[in-house]
Amino acid sequence: MAKRAAHDPRQEFCSVQSSHDNVVPLRRTRARVTVECKDNIDFMRSLEKGSMKLIVTSPPYNLGKAYEQRTDRDLYVEKQAETIAEAARLLHPQGSICWQVGNHIDNGEVFPLDILLYPLFKNHGLKLRNRIIWTFGHGLHTQRRFSGRHETILWFTRGDNYTFNLDPVRVPSKYPEKKHFKGPKRGQISGNPLGKNPTDVWEIPNVKANHVEKTIHPCQFPVGLVERLVLGLTNPADNVLDPYMGVGSSIVAALKHDRNAFGCDLMQDYVDVALERVEALRQGTLRTRPMNKPVYDPNGKSD
Ligand SMILES: C[S@@+](CC[C@H](N)C(=O)[O-])C[C@H]1O[C@@H](n2cnc3c(N)ncnc32)[C@H](O)[C@@H]1O
Repeated sequence: MAKRAAHDPRQEFCSVQSSHDNVVPLRRTRARVTVECKDNIDFMRSLEKGSMKLIVTSPPYNLGKAYEQRTDRDLYVEKQAETIAEAARLLHPQGSICWQVGNHIDNGEVFPLDILLYPLFKNHGLKLRNRIIWTFGHGLHTQRRFSGRHETILWFTRGDNYTFNLDPVRVPSKYPEKKHFKGPKRGQISGNPLGKNPTDVWEIPNVKANHVEKTIHPCQFPVGLVERLVLGLTNPADNVLDPYMGVGSSIVAALKHDRNAFGCDLMQDYVDVALERVEALRQGTLRTRPMNKPVYDPNGKSD
């Protein structure tokens, strides 16, 4: 497997405005990108202790997908423990780890990976802040159990003093005009004008064939899902790492919001696509689904 690095701290991005709905207009930023085709343990060992404000990733689920070899479950957990230990070493004192996982399936039996992996984070003294449910509408239907339509994100922090910015990730209130009906604030708008807390249940379409972000990768993150974590859990110029980067959805989400992006993947084809997406972002031609775009409702209640 060839190794390739793309790291040019002097590089600045240029904004190219576009009228297309989904194209990300990019203003000038000094955010850096460091992307390598490498095993994540090697990559992470080269990074400085405590340097990452956000480590956001989705590891393989040990299902035998194109990018992984199915192994014994205990071995899989052991390998995850090794990667999580490195992530814990790199975590900034006010930082967060977001581990996005679904289920491992063996002979029709379901093993939720968040349950298997939770103790590995606790071994490093990390504190769980949310177990976010990511729900989506599309996927195969199963015949002998209910069709799976959610996965989870385990959000841990190093300590009690952690970065959390609610305002940039507020979502529109259901009743923005609602007013206090009694008391000293009677007649005033009762909700926050910036919108409401997005809660711990996130409905965001998964990246299937006709999704605007679809690439060659069979299991990519929607960029909007990572954007919410980047905006909520980091500040501009912070470092964001994805140790199972795939085609760089986390890298794109970080760069879009002026955070430095670090990522690696074992597969050169995915790394190449990640670099192409970064370049498209620079050029202002990358198409991503807007973060808070309502989910399509066939009954016409949203678009
Ligand atoms: C579920 S996918 C992540 C996809 C990614 N979130 C995206 O949006 O493209 C898991 C990725 O981990 C990569 N991978 C598996 N083992 C790895 C390792 N030891 N080091 C680095 N990458 C690895 C696979 O090649 C695969 O692309």
